[in-house]
Amino acid sequence: MIEVSWRVPLFDLSVDEEEIKAVEAVLRSKWISMGSITQEFESEFAKRHGVKYAIAVTNCTAALHLALKAIGIREGDEVICPSLTFVATANSILYVGGKPVFAEIISRNDLTVSPEDIEAKITERTKAIVVVHYGGYPCKIDLILEIASKYNLKVVEDCAHAPLAEYKGKKVGSWGDIGCFSFFSNKNMTTAEGGIITTNDDEIAEKVLLMRSHGMTALSFDKFRGHASGYDVVELGYNYRIDDIRSSIGIVQLKKLDAFNRRRKELTKLYIDNLSDIDGITVPFKNLSEDGDLVSSYHIFPILISRDDLKRDFIRQELSKKGIQTSVHYQPVHLFSIYRSRFGYEKGDLSLTEWVSEHEITLPLYPSMKEEDVFYVVDCLKDIFRK
Ligand SMILES: Cc1ncc(COP(=O)(O)O)c(C=O)c1O
Repeated sequence: MIEVSWRVPLFDLSVDEEEIKAVEAVLRSKWISMGSITQEFESEFAKRHGVKYAIAVTNCTAALHLALKAIGIREGDEVICPSLTFVATANSILYVGGKPVFAEIISRNDLTVSPEDIEAKITERTKAIVVVHYGGYPCKIDLILEIASKYNLKVVEDCAHAPLAEYKGKKVGSWGDIGCFSFFSNKNMTTAEGGIITTNDDEIAEKVLLMRSHGMTALSFDKFRGHASGYDVVELGYNYRIDDIRSSIGIVQLKKLDAFNRRRKELTKLYIDNLSDIDGITVPFKNLSEDGDLVSSYHIFPILISRDDLKRDFIRQELSKKGIQTSVHYQPVHLFSIYRSRFGYEKGDLSLTEWVSEHEITLPLYPSMKEEDVFYVVDCLKDIFRK
């Protein structure tokens, strides 16, 4: 067993007897790999996100890989994406031989990718845009789709943080050509490891379904049910299948997701109200989260330290001494060694992204967090800022 010593961890898992019973039922059924439970999970997820297809896979990184393959990205193609994201967003572009071209964020208040900078970075080689709904806050996907249509580009939405988030009345993952969600254990809903691809495009769905399982025209489950005997291999595919054990957890978590997201929103508001009198802390998305156009999934709670005499890492250390676990979202991808050495990116390329990356702290946020935990974190911050 892992011993958890944090008084307030960054994240805590919300699972109970319901998930345990669902897993037990799958184990007792003796069909534990991908089958009817996965189909049920996919169909519920598609319904909740207003899309024609939801195709579950091993994780969101695999989802992004398949997404870029399915929209036809290949050697030498440029794909624009943010740098303020988890490295998987950009790595998936490398998997298919593409070149990630990094775009700036909008501002210190809106950390999502800037439509203006996306347009400025388009060249003759640009084939697609990968957007990220950072922290569960939808990016300006309507403007980005306008740009995409003007230049004939495909759009992939990295929705790892944003299940059930909405922009202008439409769920994220239903705007672009294809959406990719993560069910890793620290996400808004989990299957331990897991991911799902959403699309309304028949051709993309067909390609993803094939590539999820070796490019084969029949699945083991079809054979088990007597629906298929032989098969052909028509594409270069992978084994990116999820399994029914994970999907059974996903079905239960999806039912709870509205309540999880609501609780995250309440805690976020509590943080915002109580942090407002600390000079030197600003909260990105603070005003946007009240905007009627936008429904966030409140995946994380990022703050920015804007006082020059207090260093971000010092504050994190002080919080850690008080038993509060924090994180940074994110180190800019363009400055990782592999991206510097392969593409020549360097410090100064994206000054706003770099500034945020140096001044951001992610505070604890999870549905089972108590109000007194928020007060404790805020009081500790007040102490640090007073000294
Ligand atoms: C923005 C973003 N994209 C992609 C991923 C990759 O997800 P997974 O761990 O399911 O592969 C993550 C995971 O943290 C993420 O935060």
